[in-house]
Amino acid sequence: MDENRSVVIAENLTLAYKKNEPIIKNASLRINTRDFVFITGKSGSGKSTFLKSLYGAIAPQEGTLNVCGIGLNNVSNSDKNFLRKHLGIVFQDYKLIENWTIEKNIMLPLLIAGFSKDVCIAQAHKLLKHVKLVHKAYKYPLELSGGEQQRAAMARALAHNPVLILADEPTGNLDEYSSSVIWSLLRGANVQLGTTVITVTHKIPSLLRMNYKRFVIDGGHIDEVS
Ligand SMILES: Nc1ncnc2c1ncn2[C@@H]1O[C@H](COP(=O)(O)OP(=O)(O)O)[C@@H](O)[C@H]1O
Ligand SMILES: [Mg+2]
Repeated sequence: MDENRSVVIAENLTLAYKKNEPIIKNASLRINTRDFVFITGKSGSGKSTFLKSLYGAIAPQEGTLNVCGIGLNNVSNSDKNFLRKHLGIVFQDYKLIENWTIEKNIMLPLLIAGFSKDVCIAQAHKLLKHVKLVHKAYKYPLELSGGEQQRAAMARALAHNPVLILADEPTGNLDEYSSSVIWSLLRGANVQLGTTVITVTHKIPSLLRMNYKRFVIDGGHIDEVS
């Protein structure tokens, strides 16, 4: 029963870029469906490395890791593609496609999922409204401010109603207005759609009126704190 409710199951997980130089050591944790999780920790502590492991960009060196039912030890490319279709990922540096309009960037996960162009456009415009960017639909990323680009990246991450959102310091470079748009969008996805959210942040937003879990990474260990 528990297996179905767990979106992330890590058991004795060790992550490393070089053998015998572990970044995360022997971590065991579970994240359940509908959880809203903050990951904090000092710079260089391994927060981004842990997130990378969750989307299959770095494989466990020891232990096991299962995300959305996919085992990530020796994962096949087709399983990795299947997993990515269920994820929305947001990076600190946005990673929008520079020669595509904002509208087309937001359509990307829907195009990959094979929806018709009409459906993609309708959904992109719904999200453009949520992130207050309707007036920028036909602009290119570099014509937008950093905060606007991150709001577009968040719209893209949510466009296909992912099961799990992974966000790496999504408001790290943003002003207060764009930060509040980002947090309220993540909160809305979690509360209204039941999306599981795992986000790295150096500052937990004070106005987030909701239950959340917090994990701290320190010295290679991942510990839940209350
Ligand atoms: N691609 C990589 N190759 C080798 N070492 C890396 C790589 N990426 C990160 N590291 C190292 O792993 C450690 C954790 O980095 P990272 O997960 O980015 O930390 P955080 O996100 O908490 O600031 C750091 O010491 C960093 O230098
Ligand atoms: Mg980082």
